[in-house]
Amino acid sequence: MSFFKPFALERFFAKHEFSARYLLCSSDCESFPVRELLAMDEGSIDRLLDMRLGYTETRGAPSLREAIAGHYAGLGPEGVFVHSGAEEAILNLYLAALKPGDRVVVNYPCYQSLAEIPRSLGCEVVPWELRQVEDGPGGPRWRLDPDELPALSGGKATMIVLNAPNNPTGALPTRDEFEAVVAYARRTGAILFVDEVYRRLERDRSARLPSACEAYENGVALDVLSKHSGLAGLRIGWLASRRTDLLDAVAVVKDYNSICSSAPSELLAEIAIRNLEPIAARNRAICARNLALLDGFFERRPEFARWTPPAAGSVAFPRLSDGSDAEELAERLVAESGVLLLPGAYYDYDRSYFRLGFGRANLPEALARLEAWLDGR
Ligand SMILES: Cc1ncc(COP(=O)(O)O)c(C=O)c1O
Repeated sequence: MSFFKPFALERFFAKHEFSARYLLCSSDCESFPVRELLAMDEGSIDRLLDMRLGYTETRGAPSLREAIAGHYAGLGPEGVFVHSGAEEAILNLYLAALKPGDRVVVNYPCYQSLAEIPRSLGCEVVPWELRQVEDGPGGPRWRLDPDELPALSGGKATMIVLNAPNNPTGALPTRDEFEAVVAYARRTGAILFVDEVYRRLERDRSARLPSACEAYENGVALDVLSKHSGLAGLRIGWLASRRTDLLDAVAVVKDYNSICSSAPSELLAEIAIRNLEPIAARNRAICARNLALLDGFFERRPEFARWTPPAAGSVAFPRLSDGSDAEELAERLVAESGVLLLPGAYYDYDRSYFRLGFGRANLPEALARLEAWLDGR
């Protein structure tokens, strides 16, 4: 028996990701070639060619950590810990910070590892449910209610885990809501772990939240180049926190898995970090164009599905209007038209929901294929 339950979503992608023609549910934004990345930084081709391929530093190359720290107010390189993707960072943080019996409040629905790893470690995982609300700032949205925290945590949670912007709903707390979460965590001494891998993809730039490592002395932020930057193949993510004692504990864990990240990836990541704004801006523009198309799609197709529009990120979580099983639909759709949707069942959620991804350049074609298939069925 494995220590972990299988990662349902990753197994679904393993089955379809490299055979489906149109990925209409990817969470990562549009990628681009190494050549283009190298062109962003003069002299980088020679640096790459001359690089020696030994081990790198466990916490990441100092210059990379410094470049990352530059994106957070009040954080130095000692507050940055580079990992092989966000996924490794999640595992290492949980292994370093939690013990069996700890209470962990985790927003739901969410990316499976955020809840599954603490559960496997023997923690008491308490779901904090996102709900769809019709009114409030900006109209209908998915919302987490900070007023539920006292009942869920009982003042005892070791850690509160938030994925903001959220995968799969695209939810983003307002600044007041975020501050209320920080205030509660501070009052009870909980670590606030915020998975920020979709940060920088806000529909409205002014809605961007401060990072957890800026907002709270006991906050830990997670980011990665996979989503806003479309560079998932680099496998470079990081934890950012002022809790350097916690990062020291993470270092103990990291010695037992990847030891350090890939040297060429670190060099390429540093170029991306130095050009983070233009890279993320390009993907924000792709998302904005695609969101306008999706708005039109949902207006034209109320009999098919309805959505609560995402506030940020590159994914949304609509529901089939007839309440049927999205997995049946997804399997037929991919077999007959090559378009892939991700069923909500993979989030342990109501089966009539499904995930859409809108960070890819070929969304217009994928959506046209979906509409043609809907017309023909
Ligand atoms: C919320 C969230 N966190 C972490 C990850 C893991 O990111 P990576 O695959 O780059 O390690 C993902 C990937 O989909 C995600 O959606």
